Amino acid sequence: MTVVKQEIQDASSYISEQVGELHPEIGLILGSGLGVLAEEIENPVHIPYSDIPNFPVSTVEGHAGQFVFGTLNGKTVAAMQGRFHFYEGYPMDKVTFPVRVMKELGIDKVIVTNAAGGINESFQPGDLMVISDHINNFGTNPLIGPNSKEFGPRFPDMSTAYSAKFQELAHETAKDLGLKLQSGVYVGNTGPTYETPAEVRMLRTLGGDAVGMSTVPEVIIARHAGMEVLGISCISNMAAGILDQPLHHDEVIETTELVKSNFLLLVKTIVSKMV
Ligand code: HPA
Repeated sequence: MTVVKQEIQDASSYISEQVGELHPEIGLILGSGLGVLAEEIENPVHIPYSDIPNFPVSTVEGHAGQFVFGTLNGKTVAAMQGRFHFYEGYPMDKVTFPVRVMKELGIDKVIVTNAAGGINESFQPGDLMVISDHINNFGTNPLIGPNSKEFGPRFPDMSTAYSAKFQELAHETAKDLGLKLQSGVYVGNTGPTYETPAEVRMLRTLGGDAVGMSTVPEVIIARHAGMEVLGISCISNMAAGILDQPLHHDEVIETTELVKSNFLLLVKTIVSKMV
């Protein structure tokens, strides 16, 4: 996968023209059903992905497909309402393109959110989970291909992919707000199928606590670029085979609807305290 610096700069210049003097500090990638957070942004500037040079366009249900720039609890943010999934057929360089654009815009902190299935049997649908680490189960890596040193090192260290400082901040914030916050390892699968019960047992044996179809590629690129990452999963359902019921995308959306207010409160408060 070849990433062209010019394409990133063209996207970033277009965005800068739209947002003017606003220099976002924090990037927010909002997962399925979690895009509502962007509605809380003050003095918003909306930029549809379809207007941005070289941007792919999001297609999946429950995803709007735009950037929202503005202020959230006193911090300047760039929120992605909708992301690009590998299962939609986008190559990895497109899936992760927005993260590179964020970096080009000067953003060095990213909050990545997603809906995920709970593998850890002590979890419940509706729980929020701070991501402590991930397992890349995509069978590929967005950094495969020539490495350009200006983006980051050939062999990036992934031993602290998720900032310990931000994890601590998330736990402290949840405690202050009286919100339950789980912690665990996120497994990134390609999808679009949900897992089989046997796969869920395998992922549990491998050390996974939650499973989803995103996040890992974006976090790899963010870390390559030296950005600090906080990941939060909304456990929208228990993964296949744990409860005696089939999985459905509607359930994912319904559960995220129910926990939306807790999720919003948690992320907004974390944002206000991020340094
Ligand atoms: N598996 C994979 N991705 C998901 C799930 C799941 O159970 N729930 C929400 N996204």
